[in-house]
Amino acid sequence: MKLFKHAPKKVFHAPTNVSNMGQPYDPKYDVFSLFPCTLISVMRDTDSFDSTIEAEAFEEIIASGMNKNIGNSNSKDLDVLSNKKLKHLKEHCQEAIDAYISQILTPVEGELDFYITQSWLNITKPGECHHGHFHTNSILSGVYYIATVEDDSITFHDPNFKLKAMLKINPSEANIFNCNQSDFPVQNLQLLLFPSWMEHAVGINEKATTDRISISFNTFARGNFGCPEELNELILK
Ligand SMILES: [Fe+2]
Repeated sequence: MKLFKHAPKKVFHAPTNVSNMGQPYDPKYDVFSLFPCTLISVMRDTDSFDSTIEAEAFEEIIASGMNKNIGNSNSKDLDVLSNKKLKHLKEHCQEAIDAYISQILTPVEGELDFYITQSWLNITKPGECHHGHFHTNSILSGVYYIATVEDDSITFHDPNFKLKAMLKINPSEANIFNCNQSDFPVQNLQLLLFPSWMEHAVGINEKATTDRISISFNTFARGNFGCPEELNELILK
């Protein structure tokens, strides 16, 4: 088995796109960003599903009860994507999971089968927030936005923050290289997928006048992890 412990040189040939660094940039320097935290985003095609049927499902889930979380609330139903009325949404999520796996994690074909474990609905009312957290016992996590609010975003935290904070420099201006958290804008029908170890949060949105509603889910995989030669083989059936 070929192990890609080192990325081939060609992987790092292209400089990071500097157009959105957040401040003026001297073009004589090429900037390379190594080992990114990879998030993917996909918008859902409104013609591909029946929004009325899905709205019924969301109402049913909310009516079946919500649990108070630290800053907001989540559904008592922890398997919402098994709702028959959300069949298309589950397929959409699974399609994105499979794309992330095949294009980014690139396991040997046929070795791993990723699936959704738990899924739940979140409601953040005006004045509420979603505390910082990450998702344990999960490989990729996703969030799908049903109802966003004005200037909506989710905040991701740099997992290497503690390493970088060993030297504290006061930045004159934030850019993608010196920040330790990033407010990622979100809108209705958007699906985000990210590694479950990435800490994230939703701050209080002072502009919010309506409920912010989303569906979150976790994933795991059946199949072969690792390899016998490295003494880290793990087979999950
Ligand atoms: Fe989360």
